[in-house]
This record gives sequence, structure tokens and C-alpha cells, in this order.
Amino acid sequence: MSATIIDGKAFAATVRAQVADHVARLKADHGLTPGLAVVLVGEDPASEVYVRSKGKQTTEVGMNSTEHKLPADTAEADLLALIAQLNADPAVNGILVQLPLPDHLDSDLVINSIDPAKDVDGFHISNVGLLGTGQKSMVPCTPLGCLMMLRAQLGSLSGLNAVVVGRSNIVGKPMAQLLLGDSCTVTIAHSRTKDLAEVCRGADILVAAVGRPEMIPGDWIKPGATVVDVGINRIERDGKKTLVGDVAFASAAAVAGAITPVPGGVGPMTIACLLANTLTATCRANG
Ligand code: GUN
Repeated sequence: MSATIIDGKAFAATVRAQVADHVARLKADHGLTPGLAVVLVGEDPASEVYVRSKGKQTTEVGMNSTEHKLPADTAEADLLALIAQLNADPAVNGILVQLPLPDHLDSDLVINSIDPAKDVDGFHISNVGLLGTGQKSMVPCTPLGCLMMLRAQLGSLSGLNAVVVGRSNIVGKPMAQLLLGDSCTVTIAHSRTKDLAEVCRGADILVAAVGRPEMIPGDWIKPGATVVDVGINRIERDGKKTLVGDVAFASAAAVAGAITPVPGGVGPMTIACLLANTLTATCRANG
């Protein structure tokens, strides 16, 4: 068997086109332009790349993008003051504070100071609670992108066994909530799970979000399963820097029914969903 490759890049382009269309209509009919503010503290090179990419894609769909770059030694009070200013600004519909923050800053405190209605990451404790109780919330972008690809690939997910490998607040936990919301039977597995291989072999849907290069080989995958690989790991192979996922792609693709590649799978969907969330926040704020 050879798996269908789920083209996240093409899917993300479709989502962005839909968002751009909606943004154009908001402008024409209501004179509204959604605005996304991104806050970056420090000079982490990977974060700088993400933030640049977010800004570029935000303006490409017709939204306003503002970037707030603060030095690595920014005092917590100054960061909280900036967030308070963005919370109060009606031109700002979405606020994203790029993580990780430098160690001296309390990430939970900072995230929970964002107006939940502008929390386009869906990380605020109110949004976490709303998602966990099946209420309308802002949904974290990466799991939302995974869910959209799974629904497009499989139609109804009802009754399927879903295994999420990874228990982070950003991906694993919200992913499990979303799959439960779509009536999957959900297992959250992680590095301490006993006989992880056997747990994975029971999965009709396998979401890998552990951050360990190629940890999941093909013989952990049920024939015909749908595999979503959230991992983006930079490794060196044959003296060359390369990107790999948490799943060993070649062996997995020989067994799975469908699989997301790395790069070009989940990654592009994350920013597309950020734009979709900013649009949602704008629409909710304006009735
Ligand atoms: N750093 C890595 N992924 C993310 C994300 O989805 N949102 C934010 N704010 N920071 C991140």
C-alpha cells in the first residue's frame, strides 16, 4: 500500500483564499479591516522567521499586521502594559505573543492578560476551558489545521480510534479535545506511555506531536490509518541540514492510508488557521 499524501500547502492556500475573500467583503460592506498584532520578545531566530511569515501572510489576505519587537530583557510590567494597550485598541482584533518567552517572563500570566476575545492562539485559560466544555471558543491554530485536514480526508470522524502522541498545551491536549468533539475515541499518549507501539497500532487516526525526529516508525502504524505529523525537527543527515517530522515518513507512507508530509503538511495550515481565527475574532467583535 502507498499512502495518499495530504497536501497541507495546497489546503492552506485554499483557506487563505477563502479568508481573503471574506476580508474583502468585510471591507466593502462594513468598512472593516481585521488587524493582527504579533508580539515578539527577544531574538530567537526560529521565532523571527515565524513572525515574519505571519506578518507577510496577514497582509497578503488584506488584513492589517503590526509587529511589536521587544528586547530580550523586557520587564514583565512593560510587556503587560503593551498587551493592555492592544486589548484596548479597537483596530486590533487579534493578539499573538510568540512563544517561547525569555525565562524571566511568566508565560501563563502574559497569555492570560490577553483579552480572550482577541486570543487568536486560543491559549488563554478561558478559551481552554470553553474548548474543554464544548463551547464556542478560539481554537489553537495547529490542532485546528489538523482537524480540518482530517475532516477533508475522512469525512465523519465519528467512532474512530484516535491516538494523539504528545500532551502539550499548544497541540496535544487541544487536539484531543477537538477529536473528542468529533466523536472519536481518544487516547493521549506520551513519552511515558507503556507499550507506545501497541497503543499507536490501535489508531485509525494517529497525530504525532512529540518533537522527536522520526520517533514513530511504519510498523507502529495500522494499515490504512490516517497519520498527521505535527513534528518539525531540524536534523543533520549525510552532512546536510534537513527537516523531518516525528514520523519516519518513508516507512509510514508504505503502511498508512493517508499521511501529512514534513515540510508541506501541518506547518502551512497553522498560519492559515491563525488568519481564519483573526477573521473570526473580527466578526465576533463586530456582531
Ligand atoms: N511558538 C510555536 N508555536 C506557536 C504558536 O502556535 N503560537 C505562539 N504564540 N507561539 C508559538
